[in-house]
Amino acid sequence: MKSLTDSYTLNNGYKIPCIGFGTYQIPDDDIGISSVHTAIINGYRHIDAAAVYGNERSIGKAIRNCGVDRKQLFITSKVWNTERGFDKTLAAFKQTLEDLQLDYLDLYLVHWPAAKGILSEWQRINLETWRAMEHLYKEGFIRTIGVSNFLPHHLIPLMDQANIQPMVNQIEYHPGQMQIETVELCKKHHMIVEAWSPLGTGKMLSNPQLKDIAEKYGKSVAQLCIRWCLQNDILPLPKSVTSSRIKENTEIFDFIISGEDMSVINSMPYIGGSGLHPDNLDF
Ligand code: A2P
Repeated sequence: MKSLTDSYTLNNGYKIPCIGFGTYQIPDDDIGISSVHTAIINGYRHIDAAAVYGNERSIGKAIRNCGVDRKQLFITSKVWNTERGFDKTLAAFKQTLEDLQLDYLDLYLVHWPAAKGILSEWQRINLETWRAMEHLYKEGFIRTIGVSNFLPHHLIPLMDQANIQPMVNQIEYHPGQMQIETVELCKKHHMIVEAWSPLGTGKMLSNPQLKDIAEKYGKSVAQLCIRWCLQNDILPLPKSVTSSRIKENTEIFDFIISGEDMSVINSMPYIGGSGLHPDNLDF
């Protein structure tokens, strides 16, 4: 990967730009609009949204007024947990399109699996939600479909029943939380893995070991984490509302982390993260 517009190819041939701009906790106001605008000006062509973030109207405004042709942008959204099931997913999707003021999405994801620990009919619910995703895909409203936060025990039953296989799995991924089994399963089935919270929502940034490595390359820890994702063939989705950081997070194509340093980062123990597990959520 040499620039933000270089892409991975999804299993139906559709291209996905190799870094996306994360929008979790970006406010639904002028700050939100200007963050997305700044991201696009700095070269991002991939915006990762979700209905539950509550900011799709602002993202829509930024997209509409950014001066870049819609076809050159890659826009993702996600169906929220309360909207699972066939009919509700279709309705949620319609609302998202309306809020974003778009007539199609590049990628739509199931935000979290209906999970074993919480719902007795979790497999049936996941399949019904997936049938809605397949329907929207076949109708031409979505270019690619996928899941988020699915672990192997959620993915396998879904893949067994799916008519169209998930093309993406978006999971929490940063140093110390590499979810190796999930990543291996996804790669085996040609699913692109996207990293939410690639900076551990900021928790990676003060780690002394990461600081030492970043310093060697004259880079920040944020840049190191983003580059590290790419070198592991993972698609990072860094978030920031700060112009200088939005720009900084794009400047990751002028250095290569050595094999030795990759191994050091890949073997780091858990150093913090969201602590969320899909089978143990209270939302
Ligand atoms: P802010 O949005 O205030 O700029 P993640 O992408 O892992 O969710 O991390 C997002 C968090 O990391 C936000 O708090 C964001 O702050 C902060 N952040 C993003 N990029 C940088 C950077 N280059 N340097 C320092 N902090 C950053």
